[in-house]
Amino acid sequence: MTRVVDTHRLVFGSDPEGVWSAPGRVNLIGEHTDYNDGLVLPIALPQRTDAACSPRADDLLRVWSVQTDELVEVALADVGPGRPEGWAAYVAGVLWALRAAGHEVRGLDVTVDSAVPVGAGLSSSAALECAVGAAASDLFSLGLLADDAGRARLAAACVRAENEVAGAPTGGMDQSAALLCRAGHALLLDCRSGATEQVPFDLAGDGTASGHGTTAGDGSASGDSAASADSAASADSTASGHVLLVTDTRAEHSLNDGQYGERRSSCEQAAAELGVAALRDVDPKDLDDALARLSDDVLRRRTRHIVTEIARVQACVEALRAGDLAEVGRLFDASHASLRDDYEVSCAELDASVEAARGAGALGARMTGGGFGGSSIALLPAGAVDDAKRAIAAAFAERGWREPRCFVVTAGVAARRDA
Ligand code: GLA
Repeated sequence: MTRVVDTHRLVFGSDPEGVWSAPGRVNLIGEHTDYNDGLVLPIALPQRTDAACSPRADDLLRVWSVQTDELVEVALADVGPGRPEGWAAYVAGVLWALRAAGHEVRGLDVTVDSAVPVGAGLSSSAALECAVGAAASDLFSLGLLADDAGRARLAAACVRAENEVAGAPTGGMDQSAALLCRAGHALLLDCRSGATEQVPFDLAGDGTASGHGTTAGDGSASGDSAASADSAASADSTASGHVLLVTDTRAEHSLNDGQYGERRSSCEQAAAELGVAALRDVDPKDLDDALARLSDDVLRRRTRHIVTEIARVQACVEALRAGDLAEVGRLFDASHASLRDDYEVSCAELDASVEAARGAGALGARMTGGGFGGSSIALLPAGAVDDAKRAIAAAFAERGWREPRCFVVTAGVAARRDA
């Protein structure tokens, strides 16, 4: 944080009024379900984007990025679809969307400094949007950080910035994660109703990962999946000391290169052919029947992924509540296979990282985020982390790929004011 303040002083000639930050995210499970009105289960990363900001009396936005050493200036009146281009769209787009939602927003001097790797599928763009959105909310007295309802409205503005100004047709998971996640918890978000539940996610082994009944209103379902799990594996995997290892494959992905939008259109077409508002409306019991009614095999595979993936999110929440990490691992594996074979958004680097982690003792592993590159996650006994890192690095070196970056993460906190 000192760096962002020092840089702000150098670039803009005075101290910032304050510093806000927002996290990147990994999604535990529920991939490509957000734009199908489905369920997602992200955690906030410890890696965050800082935004040092000062309000301006006029309508000029000036943004400096520590990562690109570059100043972008734009009048708010000139912001719109495709303007400005590049990373500054995420900053300007948020102010534009807040104005469009009727908020009184003026110009800002902003310095951004991000520890969330760009292009790694860890939502660096949402972290940037939400850090700036949090700053705008405080500096222009919008009060959007005060409660989850306000934060959800701010998330919606950040999604508009991404969709309409930056031109990436993403769903809303990343911005919701950056604004609504709590430390030590995964966020179960129903992307249709906007309902959220905080699901305890603390793998360190002090018992909180099992979290029976800690979320208001959930009192159900915790025993079933534990009962059906293989008892030896289950006993072992509920023991203390597990970790979530993220592997940034450094195979860069982009969400506005057409592939992501193509998946989204296929889902819309499938929903239209089935006569439902979204694929969320297909009951897993009726899946075979629904598949038989679709016009081609690609739509069948895409639909099968979405419907089974939404069911896996529910099962994963039950397994986490039951402390059944073996089942969580199996669900991770099934999710990866579905994304690779049916949704076709994995790539060789993601597959290799997942296989190497499993070979080194992971209970389960999967790609996370949009895919086509980016990052994977693996659920590992703490004692197996070094082996897994070595195995993943060796698999990449063997194939002549760039060295991947592996790091253990815990569930961090949402956007907030830091200074
Ligand atoms: C990207 C998008 C999200 C979501 C994921 C896939 O991260 O930004 O909205 O669709 O891909 O789950």
